[in-house]
Amino acid sequence: MAAKVALITGASSGIGYETALAFAREGTHIIATARRLERLSELEHAIHQLPAGHGDILIVAGDVTSAESMQAAVQQGLEHFGRLDILVANAGLGHRGAITEAEWSDIKTLLRTNIDGVLHSIRAAVPAMRQSGGGHIITISSVVYNLVAPYAAIYSASKAFVTSLAQSLRLELEGDHIQVTDVLVGRTHTEFNEKRLGGGKRTGGGVPTMTPDRVAAAIIKATHTRQKTVILRLFDRLLIWGNIFVPGLIGRLAKKQYG
Ligand SMILES: NC(=O)c1ccc[n+]([C@@H]2O[C@H](COP(=O)([O-])OP(=O)(O)OC[C@H]3O[C@@H](n4cnc5c(N)ncnc54)[C@H](OP(=O)(O)O)[C@@H]3O)[C@@H](O)[C@H]2O)c1
Repeated sequence: MAAKVALITGASSGIGYETALAFAREGTHIIATARRLERLSELEHAIHQLPAGHGDILIVAGDVTSAESMQAAVQQGLEHFGRLDILVANAGLGHRGAITEAEWSDIKTLLRTNIDGVLHSIRAAVPAMRQSGGGHIITISSVVYNLVAPYAAIYSASKAFVTSLAQSLRLELEGDHIQVTDVLVGRTHTEFNEKRLGGGKRTGGGVPTMTPDRVAAAIIKATHTRQKTVILRLFDRLLIWGNIFVPGLIGRLAKKQYG
């Protein structure tokens, strides 16, 4: 059977980087995209150091905010590997700031990346998956997707978009044999916090932090088990439930943390 091929957006650091490594370890070929080509070259080098039997990698500089860029990444991947089986729509940014006072340029960048970026990568990948006879789309959302999130609402709402989209997409694509898994990621130690747009670089105490390889392992597992939604930890599950049952209380706690 031909090795599977996975397109990973935001593969130059954090969760995307570790996911690319984890897929390559199990023999899946990788199309790795992000804007920082030098970081993708480091990933390429790391994959070439893996024990025999690892997947191959094609690195493609790409910007998820551009539909053409995502189409070009898919096209180059098809020319190189001949098929596309998996998309990890991972590229994303954080933001803190009041809804009415935050810089519009930051809000725009956040929305163009976290919303347009997910749409562009999915819309580019699906025709290639159909050609391959099916596939699996992994959307990277967040445990804050349903958070009442004063001063973090722009980010939180962008992840609500991702999770809502994933649920409908799953039904739209079931006839094409394309699975959709939405991963609700909790706080993870990556470059995410230092690159976050807007104010408030404080990360907030008391919230447990995971390593990105743990998230990567859950993503790989989901491609085998075909879970619809992945929540990694009890803490993350409690936060999501808290927002369903006592949103006012969680919102007050969030206001203290983000304000
Ligand atoms: N870390 C957390 O606590 C956490 C929690 C919940 C959800 N998440 C989600 O997990 C995903 C990955 O984040 P991370 O934690 O791994 O952060 P990260 O280390 O900062 O990685 C973000 C990745 O996105 C890429 N990216 C950003 N803007 C892009 C653009 N316009 N075009 C192409 N690529 C772009 C970056 O690459 P370049 O800069 O090279 O383009 C980088 O590879 C995000 O969707 C984030 O919202 C993270």
